Amino acid sequence: MNPEFRISVAPMVDWTDTWFRQFARIFTKKAWLYTEMITAPAILHGDLSRLLYYDSAEKPLVLQIAADSPEEAARAVNAAVPFAYDEINLNVGCPSDKVQKGRFGACLMAEPELVRDIITAMKSTSLVPVTIKHRIGIDDTGTYDHLKQFVQIVNEARPSRYIVHGRIALLKGLDPRQNRTIPPLRYEDVYRLKKDFPHITVDINGGIKTARDIESHVPFIDGVMIGREAYENPASMVWYDRLTGEEAPPPSLSYRQVIACIHKLDQRMRASGEPPWRLYRHLSGLFKNMRGAKEFRRFLDAKAFKDPAAAPTAETLYSLLPPQTLDTLLGET
Ligand SMILES: Cc1cc2nc3c(=O)[nH]c(=O)nc-3n(C[C@H](O)[C@H](O)[C@H](O)COP(=O)(O)O)c2cc1C
Repeated sequence: MNPEFRISVAPMVDWTDTWFRQFARIFTKKAWLYTEMITAPAILHGDLSRLLYYDSAEKPLVLQIAADSPEEAARAVNAAVPFAYDEINLNVGCPSDKVQKGRFGACLMAEPELVRDIITAMKSTSLVPVTIKHRIGIDDTGTYDHLKQFVQIVNEARPSRYIVHGRIALLKGLDPRQNRTIPPLRYEDVYRLKKDFPHITVDINGGIKTARDIESHVPFIDGVMIGREAYENPASMVWYDRLTGEEAPPPSLSYRQVIACIHKLDQRMRASGEPPWRLYRHLSGLFKNMRGAKEFRRFLDAKAFKDPAAAPTAETLYSLLPPQTLDTLLGET
């Protein structure tokens, strides 16, 4: 595989916080990780050290913002400069009502000139590449021609990368969850976009799960972004570094190694005064489809970890799990 081919883990509100991202690094060193979406007003009026904090182990890391005004977007990007993210991404794909009320997210696909101006403004204060994540369309402007027109206008601002979720969003009538499942995936539209604009960099997103899925996109596109599967089945992330041109695949991970890494993270978290559930809530998919998964999930009942004394020790976690390598187990899924 071309070593430039990028695999990234999608921005997901409430899921891809710093603790999930640090956990994800147990499985993949190379994948690009994203923050949760943070709105420009939140950055401008919020507690920056809390909102924008991350651990250097999370890099390469992209900050995703939502904005509806070029001026605010530029100021938000400027405020983030000291945090030295590797890229800044504009969210033009989120269909939630709350986001639409702020005129953020997917509804901006109806205003390509405004999106172009926001990207231009972000670039004016950013020291790092500025990228965009969007849908293939919204509502009744969901044809390929609309998508092409959108990109033609936005590209006047030259974003460094387009991450395209291969389904339209229906802003009225479907909630965000339904908007991630009901509109059919149209990968061909994303491939066609890359063909029609060969000089832009395009990543594809939506419904990608397995190593085989990833490989099927490689001939047509510059990268893939994976959301739910990475979160709900984190061990599947071990494939990412293997697929992206490592000369020798990284050594396989054993359960014990994974648990030892989690234990280290746990200690760091406690040292920083964070309650344990902020890490453990992200682990419930860790052994998805594997022997011991149910016991593990039961053990991780988030409520139990509101009490720090109830959080598991590494030894308890070891005792729950069979000492098989993740390799073997991934082969079985
Ligand atoms: C819980 C959750 C939160 C999400 N939050 C965001 C977000 O903050 N910004 C964004 O651009 N997309 C967000 N998404 C959409 C994902 O980034 C991704 O585009 C979508 O899930 C499709 O990819 P997948 O099929 O690999 O999950 C979210 C998805 C989920 C499941």
